[in-house]
Amino acid sequence: MSEHTSSSSSSSPRGLHIITWGCQMNVYDSARMADVLRPLGYAPVDRPEEADMIILNTCHIREKAAEKVFSELGRLRKIREARKLEKGRDTFLAVAGCVAQAEGKELLARAPFVDLVLGPQTYHRLPEMVARVTRAGGGVIDTDFPVETKFDFLPDEAAPQNSANLTAFLTIQEGCDKFCSFCVVPYTRGMEVSRPVASVLAEAKRLVESGVRELTLLGQNVNAYHGEWQGEPLSLAGLAEKLRAIPGLLRLRYMTSHPRDMEESLMVAHRDNPIFMPFLHLPVQSGSDRVLKAMNRGHTADEYRDIIKRLRQLRPDIALSSDFIVGHPGETDEDFEATMQLVKDISFASAFSFKYSARPGTPAAGQPFQVPEDVKDRRLARLQALLREQQDAFNASLVGTIQDILVTGPGRKPGQLSGRSPYLQPVHFEGDSSLIGQIVKVHITTQRTNSLGGLLHEEALAV
Ligand code: SAH
Ligand code: SF4
Ligand code: F3S
Repeated sequence: MSEHTSSSSSSSPRGLHIITWGCQMNVYDSARMADVLRPLGYAPVDRPEEADMIILNTCHIREKAAEKVFSELGRLRKIREARKLEKGRDTFLAVAGCVAQAEGKELLARAPFVDLVLGPQTYHRLPEMVARVTRAGGGVIDTDFPVETKFDFLPDEAAPQNSANLTAFLTIQEGCDKFCSFCVVPYTRGMEVSRPVASVLAEAKRLVESGVRELTLLGQNVNAYHGEWQGEPLSLAGLAEKLRAIPGLLRLRYMTSHPRDMEESLMVAHRDNPIFMPFLHLPVQSGSDRVLKAMNRGHTADEYRDIIKRLRQLRPDIALSSDFIVGHPGETDEDFEATMQLVKDISFASAFSFKYSARPGTPAAGQPFQVPEDVKDRRLARLQALLREQQDAFNASLVGTIQDILVTGPGRKPGQLSGRSPYLQPVHFEGDSSLIGQIVKVHITTQRTNSLGGLLHEEALAV
């Protein structure tokens, strides 16, 4: 690494403002970029006006991604100019993430005032790149897929990602090589790579020691995780078993999974590993076999139904969430009705649904029979109405039950606490702030649009 990296912290802290768009993997990456920059004297600030360095961490998954980046860059440029004028201070401007990876060159050409463009796999080189920019006077790009993985170079301390430090994301896998017809991820994040077990366990331990009680393991295909432990292959179920042994880690989740990699051993772990939460995000995208094939998903609608059936056998309280795309090229009314039927058959606790958006360079973008926008709009509205109904019904079904709630912090009103249910719903109830960080039993009494209300039933179950 360069001489700049090894130089000691600057005496006066420098402000770092990171704007994060996209998935949880970007949220994790932003926290780690902050970690990497800390030894250079950068500390997070809330407002871009106060920042010596601004990083825009971008997402490329759906339409107008690049346009959104340029308009945000225009805003940040003005802030930077005003700061220079008023305070005489320079602001370093970097664009990171998946738009940087996919369109880095165009980005620099259209926004030459950007100092640095870096892809998701190279942020461990940030200090070195910052030094290079300083030497070159701006306009540096690093969107390699390096042979070394960023995980080998990350500093030891890990910043947990919520204010109470009780829940955190942990990336255990990068990239994807499933090549679904519609998706940019294999091009922006590169091939699938699993992070070594020892490195995952070390970070998990550090997080738990710093107070984290609930971990979410991240990867674009996280259930395809394959590590190695003492010469033997280790699956996600095996990794979860190792994580279970960390004292103080109470809850474990993982996302995003692919139905194709939902192995029996992992499903059984949902019954046998008590730290697994009974909630799974398992995107299906469509309920039509024809569309699933066109999407290159590698499974049928009935295979998906079978997975859910098995999971429910093993873990009757499990709730499901999913992702859907309407209007993939070639999707007919009949195909869409098959999606509606699948949703009715399964009943989801929550879901994300999107209109298909053609992504440059992906196979689906070039296919004939693109579905007209107004048809997509109508299908999305119907699907979302059904999913909303199911989500409301699921929330309503919890009223009258007693749930284990991880108390994550104070509520909005005095004397109130805020917590997280096993199903990720925010739950509000009266209680003493000494309960923060513990799992308590709460009698759920009310259902609101996006949260639940309740009464403390029994204090301090664990920790
Ligand atoms: N790896 C995950 C999802 C990654 S992207 C998986 O395989 O399921 C998150 C979601 O964005 C996808 O599940 C999909 O529903 C949606 N998405 C991805 N590309 C899209 C596109 N081109 N148009 C619309 N939605 C898209
Ligand atoms: Fe994209 Fe498919 Fe990979 Fe998910 S599995 S990241 S949708 S290519
Ligand atoms: Fe977006 Fe990249 Fe995540 S495209 S969804 S930020 S992997």
